[in-house]
Amino acid sequence: MNALREHRLNVSRYILILAAVWTAGIVGSLGWNLYHITQNDVERARIQARIAYSKDLIYRRWNASHNGVYVPVTETTLPNPTLRSIDGLDELNIETPSGRKLTLINPAYMTRQVFEMTEQVFGTRGHLTSLKPLRAENLPDAWETKGLNAFEEGAEEVSSIERIEGQEYMRLMRPLLVEQRCMKCHESQGYEVGNVRGGLSVSVPMDPLRAISLAHKYRIAWVHVLLWIVGLIGLGSAGVRLRKAELVRELAEQELEENNLHLSAAKQEADLANHSKTEFLTNMSHEIRTPMNAILGFTEILEDRIADPRDLQCLSSISSSGKSLLILINSILDLSKIEAGKLVLEEDDHLCARDTAGDAEHLPPGGHQTGPRVLHRSRAGLPHGPDPRRPAS
Ligand code: HEC
Repeated sequence: MNALREHRLNVSRYILILAAVWTAGIVGSLGWNLYHITQNDVERARIQARIAYSKDLIYRRWNASHNGVYVPVTETTLPNPTLRSIDGLDELNIETPSGRKLTLINPAYMTRQVFEMTEQVFGTRGHLTSLKPLRAENLPDAWETKGLNAFEEGAEEVSSIERIEGQEYMRLMRPLLVEQRCMKCHESQGYEVGNVRGGLSVSVPMDPLRAISLAHKYRIAWVHVLLWIVGLIGLGSAGVRLRKAELVRELAEQELEENNLHLSAAKQEADLANHSKTEFLTNMSHEIRTPMNAILGFTEILEDRIADPRDLQCLSSISSSGKSLLILINSILDLSKIEAGKLVLEEDDHLCARDTAGDAEHLPPGGHQTGPRVLHRSRAGLPHGPDPRRPAS
């Protein structure tokens, strides 16, 4: 019973361990999925930032290839005061034949204006900066300073998730190298073609991307919760089935134990009965043998005293029947010895073929024709004579 209870405990323990492994697996898989979705967001933001950077670079190049472009002066597009300080730049402001005022827009000014529009529409921020800015407002922030220093060391891109005004952004910056077309305005600062002029940093807000992936994360989480529940239900029902099987086995074992008890009780009873029977047979054969010997003994004495041949024949019949009875009683005694396990077999030359001719005398009259037939076959050369250990009379 104790072993069974222990087995039952073991089943529960296995189920619990499996449930723990299943839970750990589900939590692991969920964590792995959520981590990858988050990493995906970061990668997508980085790609967006690179695309934004490439676009900015292209239209800047277009502007630089024209050494700046003229646009009408408006309230938001006033002449660039920094440009005025650059030597050799006359014609900063010009007038069309009809009297419209135009001002020269350098690439950095244009970029700044595009950045403002982009930020309003898409939330993506841009900043053109340099460790040696012409315009004081273009000074780098701490993150950009680190990036610009990295570019001086040969880095080609820096990017990371940063917080700006409490919001999460993917910040990415790549260097802007001095090209021949930049020299007109930047040569006076001492740059040569190939130098790092500064950097263009782009900051992509993470919130919109996170909002999109949040729905995905919820879906994944729900699928995992469902899987977890289904797994637990499966494990639970397997546990119940196992327990039921255990119960059936327990009952069968109990029944078997009871049957065994009954069987051994019955066997004991049978053994006892058998013993009594053997004892009875031993005693009975023993008790009958004594009067039998007396009968045979007195018959022999009578045979000496009687002369009438008919009486003698009766006596001889009594004697041979008595001997047969004695043989029978001896056989019963042997049988009881066999049953008691006390029979000792001995090998002897003297066991012989008995002459059964006399047996026919005990058959009923007429039995020679219709009754049982006594067949006796003996091998030639077998010794004749009585068993020396058996009292003949
Ligand atoms: C038409 C003149 C002009 C040309 C051509 C020009 N720049 Fe500039 N650039 C300026 C002026 C003026 C500023 C500073 C004021 C501003 O922000 O508008 C500036 C600012 C910058 C800045 C920001 C840091 C700072 O110094 O304030 C970078 C970086 C820059 N230029 C890179 C370049 C590169 C690279 C090229 C060539 C591909 C180039 N510029 C071509 C006039 C020019």
